[in-house]
Amino acid sequence: MSWVSDYKYTWAEQLAMRTLRACGHIPNHVAFVMDGNRRFARSQQIDKIEGHSRGFEKLADCLRWCLDAGVREVTTFAFSIENFKRSNEEVEGLFNLAREKFARLLEETTRLNEHGIRIRVIGNIELLPLDLQKLVASAMLSTERNDKLFLNVAFAYTSRDEITQAVETVLRHGSQDLAAEDISERLLEECLYTRHSPPPDLVFRTSGETRLSDFMMWQLSTSVLYFSNVLWPQITFWHFLASLLAYQRDRWQLEDFRRTERMHSYQLAKTSDFYSERVQKFLATIDEDRRKLLVRLAAN
Ligand code: FPP
Ligand code: MG
Repeated sequence: MSWVSDYKYTWAEQLAMRTLRACGHIPNHVAFVMDGNRRFARSQQIDKIEGHSRGFEKLADCLRWCLDAGVREVTTFAFSIENFKRSNEEVEGLFNLAREKFARLLEETTRLNEHGIRIRVIGNIELLPLDLQKLVASAMLSTERNDKLFLNVAFAYTSRDEITQAVETVLRHGSQDLAAEDISERLLEECLYTRHSPPPDLVFRTSGETRLSDFMMWQLSTSVLYFSNVLWPQITFWHFLASLLAYQRDRWQLEDFRRTERMHSYQLAKTSDFYSERVQKFLATIDEDRRKLLVRLAAN
């Protein structure tokens, strides 16, 4: 199964998609919390890992819908650091599935490049087995020039870990380059894995759970949250459409809030010379170091 499916729309779905695009505002960034794979597996009397594998197929459909709807960025929660507490068999099964999918991604780079899709794995990848780190690094490097659709796969991720890592980055790299007055909310935001992404406009969680489960807690303060009872492997185009309609209904109050709130750092970095030379140098070092790590992993 490819990362972007060849989903065949029915005529009714095509009509709905066209109407939605013509009449309403499309979110720039959508995040999916893909929940309910094991309950789905139990209901179908199939193995848990088969449930996760069906979940991946739905992710590929969602990517196709997002691409066609005009969404520019997708973030998906694929493996929480909390998931390490699951049985060895399930964790290893999920890693094998990820190995298969990232290896497949490397085979279909041309197709991803045609769609302009850039893959970024956000998370503490050093917690993963070495061979998987290498695959993930290669996947990120092989699509790094693309800029039409960004797919962020949260793998070995929790928000609390992301924020802890950000503080560590400041301490490790910034101790010589930064002054105490440089430390701010914005600077910390720049050290998150999502440093180059706008915050999600819409978060869609399946399976009836109405929690965030330590997912993008820093980034979601002004996002529309949409919860559905459907189990992730059973998600359809119509559920996706319902989430976009909910976003179109609720986004107004968030737009007001965003207008009055401070600007997100990714906008600042693009629109002003807000940062001092010292901070700019520090931020450039973060990017350089992150890329060097990927190059080293991919080469090993
Ligand atoms: C949550 O359902 C799902 C996961 C923990 C794994 C999701 C992973 C995939 C869909 C595969 C993605 C792979 C790549 C390479 C992107 P659950 O296990 O919590 O199910 P439950 O809520 O019914 O127990
Ligand atoms: Mg679950």
